[in-house]
Amino acid sequence: MSSWRILCLAALAFFQSSTSAEKRRLSPENLLVITAATEETDGFQRFMRTAREFNYTVKVLGLGEDWKGGDVARTVGGGQKVRWLKKELLKHSDNKDLVVMFVDSYDVIFASGPEELLSKFSRLGHRVVFSAEGFCWPDQRLASKYPEVHSGKRYLNSGGFIGFAADLSAIVQQWKYKDNDDDQLFYTRIFLDKTQRTKFNITLDHRSRIFQNLNGAVDEVVLKFERAKVRARNVAYDTLPVIIHGNGPTKDEELPLVYVAVFIEHATPFMEEFLDRLTTLNYPTDRIRLFIHNNVVYHERHIQKFWERYRALFPDALLVGPEEDLKEDKARTMAVEACKKDPECDYYFSIDSDVALTNPDTLRILIEENKSVIAPMLSKHGKLWSNFWGALSPEGYYSRSEDYIEIVQGKRIGLWNVPYITQAYLIKGSMLRSKLSQVSLYVDDGMDPDMVFCRSIRDQGVFMFVSNRDEFGRLVASANFNTSRLHPDMWQIFDNPMDWKEKYVHENYSKIFEDEKSFVEQPCPDVYWFPAFSEKMCDHLVETMEDYGEWSGGSHKDERLAGGYENVPTVDIHMNQIGFEKEWLKFLKEYIAPVTEKLYPGYYPKAQAIMNFVVRYRPDEQPSLRPHHDSSTFTINIALNNKGVDYEGGGCKFLRYDCKVESPRKGWSFMHPGRLTHYHEGLPTTRGTRYIMVSFVDP
Ligand SMILES: *[C@@H]1O[C@H](CO)[C@@H](O)[C@H](O)[C@H]1NC(C)=O
Ligand SMILES: *[C@@H]1O[C@H](CO)[C@@H](O)[C@H](O)[C@H]1NC(C)=O
Ligand SMILES: *[C@@H]1O[C@H](CO)[C@@H](O)[C@H](O)[C@H]1NC(C)=O
Ligand SMILES: *[C@@H]1O[C@H](CO)[C@@H](O)[C@H](O)[C@H]1NC(C)=O
Ligand SMILES: *[C@@H]1O[C@H](CO)[C@@H](O)[C@H](O)[C@H]1NC(C)=O
Repeated sequence: MSSWRILCLAALAFFQSSTSAEKRRLSPENLLVITAATEETDGFQRFMRTAREFNYTVKVLGLGEDWKGGDVARTVGGGQKVRWLKKELLKHSDNKDLVVMFVDSYDVIFASGPEELLSKFSRLGHRVVFSAEGFCWPDQRLASKYPEVHSGKRYLNSGGFIGFAADLSAIVQQWKYKDNDDDQLFYTRIFLDKTQRTKFNITLDHRSRIFQNLNGAVDEVVLKFERAKVRARNVAYDTLPVIIHGNGPTKDEELPLVYVAVFIEHATPFMEEFLDRLTTLNYPTDRIRLFIHNNVVYHERHIQKFWERYRALFPDALLVGPEEDLKEDKARTMAVEACKKDPECDYYFSIDSDVALTNPDTLRILIEENKSVIAPMLSKHGKLWSNFWGALSPEGYYSRSEDYIEIVQGKRIGLWNVPYITQAYLIKGSMLRSKLSQVSLYVDDGMDPDMVFCRSIRDQGVFMFVSNRDEFGRLVASANFNTSRLHPDMWQIFDNPMDWKEKYVHENYSKIFEDEKSFVEQPCPDVYWFPAFSEKMCDHLVETMEDYGEWSGGSHKDERLAGGYENVPTVDIHMNQIGFEKEWLKFLKEYIAPVTEKLYPGYYPKAQAIMNFVVRYRPDEQPSLRPHHDSSTFTINIALNNKGVDYEGGGCKFLRYDCKVESPRKGWSFMHPGRLTHYHEGLPTTRGTRYIMVSFVDP
């Protein structure tokens, strides 16, 4: 471990980033696209086709109504659209999280999906954004009233805008004009009124980051067709707009060619997820040349699986495995030289296995920044450990800059010139072939390749940047990764809580806390039923137990009303037998206690538990469990496999209520009071093997 990392470790602290909380609210479920159309013309159908392709939710206003808004193409008009919008937005004006985009539809297509749209909207840093164009229309006398812009289109165009529902609603509620009055003039007046502009935090998309109006700008735009899709690049501002408004595709263009080099230099948790993310980058794989250096025998299984599934995507990939015994510095040199030597290589992107690059647009965003060397800012979840240094010590090692913490925490946002970057960065091919052409970027005996790299770049007078203008992902901690376990990621709940949650917690778990009743059911009185584990968690837990293999009976205690204990033996393995008790208690505390507090208001669980075990039911072993009480305040019982596939029968009966649950769902948990009321039995498994995870909470 290099010394700067130790220094960073010494300064670990938890924090809550308000910026990231703000950003997290912008999710595709909270995006609504609204358009206006009176007829389903070809243009409208083309618009809807691209919307469907990217999974936009679209509300169409006006279908079937007569158009009274004038002939917008030639003259003023369009007021009818605002009147419809005024009515529609009233429905959403209290929804704080909803983002609404209004676009025309007859001459508009989507070039990209909701995630990218929202990420760009969030980057613009305003609550309301209108598209921009080079003409001041319909009243040119207003031109001088517009704020100056140093780059980009200056004037408002109302054919596309996006903003929070509450703000947009308040804006359109001011409409009190006729259907053939001009909508663009209405919005323009509001924008030019400084009080309103500030109040609603309105800006224009001057550089076509979201909206590309082709009117008068056709020469700035080149288009590329990918299968059914079309992607436009604005070459004047070097942006990739999401909405194309105008007279349709004309020219052809290809995205830059990127050499992506992956380095697996030590055993790293969540490797399958890391490799899968390479395939879900929002970048055409035919514009990627993949190189993977794997120096870890343990990960050969993951590379193998990845390669079997995805080789067709990366036909020119180069894989170097541990058998080649290629040292890290040599491997890095080999990868960067390949880009240097290929005049077609536009960019070199280096990424290490401990980077969880969760933003699929990372490559596009970094390319758009147009810097010679640039890194996406990444840090360990909730910690100050990041992939850059803010300053150097006189000896060339880590030194904390005064703004380091604020940058890592996202309290200061921007593009930062820094002396050291590592783990993920993008270099322009042209820079490798010019200033850096004679430099040995990674090799210098006795020095870590990352140190050699940054020193070489600095020595050539090339600036390195780190961007925290977007959220790109996080760093994965690999210090306590124990590869002698069958599924070592299961043990990562402490070190990598976000990755653990994504892999092992049911994808609908968080919906329990939304007011969607369907994610918590109550099949019997005071017996709740909710999603808890992912499929992977169920499978990995069962496989771990079967691998351990020491199934035993006799530990499931029944607390009789009289107070004495009696054994109700089950065939089971306890969490402490597989060394998973600490992790299990963490799961109870993080994921089960909040559900308890919601479902049994007023009860605050200590989330302690001594009895945590997986039970195995088989017709020829132990098929069922006779009626008993649990020695717990409440019990959770999670089904680990599928009825009808893995076994038949099974389920649970609560005798006092004469109520049975006979169709357990894999990954879903029951929760019921243990003592007194919920006297219950395990119903017989009649075929196959049934597994459940049981925990007696607060005994
Ligand atoms: C849209 O959703 C469908 C089904 O939910 C999915 O198969 C498809 O990949 C999604 N398309 C995009 C572009 O996200
Ligand atoms: C409003 O816009 C300014 C930029 O002019 C931005 O810095 C600020 O964060 C915005 N405020 C809100 C509350 O969105
Ligand atoms: C990108 O940067 C280079 C060098 O700084 C500059 O010459 C070029 O104009 C920039 N390109 C765009 C589209 O801004
Ligand atoms: C690693 O896992 C093995 C097998 O499960 C276990 O015996 C060992 O104690 C673990 N080592 C550490 C440091 O946790
Ligand atoms: C989560 O809920 C959605 C919507 O109800 C459903 O389509 C999806 O299958 C659920 N996911 C799992 C893993 O059950």
